[in-house]
Amino acid sequence: QFDVEFNRRRARLSRVGDIYDLRKIAKRRTPTAAFDYVDGAAQAELTYDGNRKAFDDIELTPAILAGSADVDLSAEVAGRTFELPVGIAPTGFTRMMQTEGEVAGVRAAERFGVPFTLSTMGTRSIEDVAAAAPAAAKWFQLYLFADRAVSQDLLKRAAANGFDTLLVTVDTTVAGQRLRDVRNGMTVPPKLTAGTVLDASYRPEWWFNFLTSDPLSFATLSGKTSDLPSLINSMFDPTLSMDDLRWIREQWPGKLFVKGVLTEDDARRSLDAGADGLVVSNHGGRQLDKAPISLDALPRVREAAGDDVDIILDSGVMRGSDIVTALALGADFTLIGRAYLYGLMAAGEAGVNKVLDLLRQEIIVSMQLMGAQSLRDLNPDMVSRITRG
Ligand code: FNR
Repeated sequence: QFDVEFNRRRARLSRVGDIYDLRKIAKRRTPTAAFDYVDGAAQAELTYDGNRKAFDDIELTPAILAGSADVDLSAEVAGRTFELPVGIAPTGFTRMMQTEGEVAGVRAAERFGVPFTLSTMGTRSIEDVAAAAPAAAKWFQLYLFADRAVSQDLLKRAAANGFDTLLVTVDTTVAGQRLRDVRNGMTVPPKLTAGTVLDASYRPEWWFNFLTSDPLSFATLSGKTSDLPSLINSMFDPTLSMDDLRWIREQWPGKLFVKGVLTEDDARRSLDAGADGLVVSNHGGRQLDKAPISLDALPRVREAAGDDVDIILDSGVMRGSDIVTALALGADFTLIGRAYLYGLMAAGEAGVNKVLDLLRQEIIVSMQLMGAQSLRDLNPDMVSRITRG
C-alpha cells in the first residue's frame, strides 16, 4: 500500500514541468486557508502582480554559435560559495503548510549546496534545524522583539548552532493586511470549525499529519491560537529604527544583511549602520502594497551600494530565467519564498528537491542559450525590457 502511494507520488513529480505545476498540486493538497496564506499578498496584491510582471516583461538576449557544454553555477555571497545562485527565504508557520516544515527545507538546501534561512516565526527550533542538516549553510532571520532580551537569546542560540549569516527584516514593523486571510478567517494554528471539518474530508492526509504531529510551536514561543496580525503586532517592535539596527549589529558576530531595502537612501543608511549586505525585497508583495518592485529597485540599489556590497534579490522568483535576469541586473544571489513552499506543500522534502532541481535546469538552459558559461558572464547588456506599442 505504502509503495503504491510512494510510486504514484514519484511518478507525479517526474511529470512536473515547472514550479507552477507544483503550485497546482499544492493547492489540491493543502487546506484553503494555509494555501492562501502562502499564495496571497497584501491588500489589492498589486505589488505581488507587479513582481511577476517585471520578470515576464524582460527579454533575454540569445547568443548564436556561442555554445558550451558546461555551465558553472557557483555563486559567492556572504563569504561562502554556493552551488546555485539561489537560497531558501525565511518563512513563518512553515509546518502549517506541510508537517515536515523547515526540516524539509534545510535538508533540500543541504543536498543542493544552497543556504537555508530559518525565520523568527519558524516552526522548528534553531536546534532542530541545525541537527536535521549539519552540513547545510544556515542563515537566521530576525524580527526585532519589543523585548530585547528575547532577540538577544535567539541570536546567541543561532550563532552557537552554526547559523553564520543574519537577515534583519525591516519591512514588517507592523503586519501587512492580507485580505485572503481575513476572508478565510485564518488563525494559527487552524481552529476546528465546520469549514475545517469539511476541508478535512477533502484532504484527510494533511489533517491526519497535522493532528498527529507536535503542536506548532515557533522558534520562540509556544502556540496559542491567534489571527496573524494580532500575533505579529503583539510580539515585534513597531518603532524599529537605525539605532536598533546598530544595536543588532553589536550583538551579531557573523555577516549581517538588511532585508527589505528598496531605495537608494535606505541602502546607504543600512550600510552606514554596519550591514555587510542588502536584500532587495518587497516581502513578496505581502507588506506594503504598491511598494516598488524588487527587480526595478535593483539597479538603483546596486548604484547606491557600489560594486563590492553583496546584494540578494527576492520577490517573484519562480523560474531559472528570473534568477538569470536578477543576476544580469546586478544581484549576486536570489531567494525563493513561495516557490519553495509550493514544492513543500506538493510533496514535502521531495517537492523542495524538485523545486531546486527545476531551477537548476532552467538556469543552465537559459545560460547556454545566452552564451554565458559562468554567472560572472551575466551583465545588463544581456537583458532588455520589452516595450510593446
Ligand atoms: C514570508 N516572508 C517572510 N520574510 C521574513 O523575513 N520572515 C518571515 O517570517 C516571513 N514569512 C513568510 C511567510 C510566507 C508564507 C511567505 C510566502 C513569505 C517573505 C519571504 O522571506 C520572501 O521575502 C518572499 O517570500 C519573497 O517573495 P516570493 O519568492 O514569495 O515571491
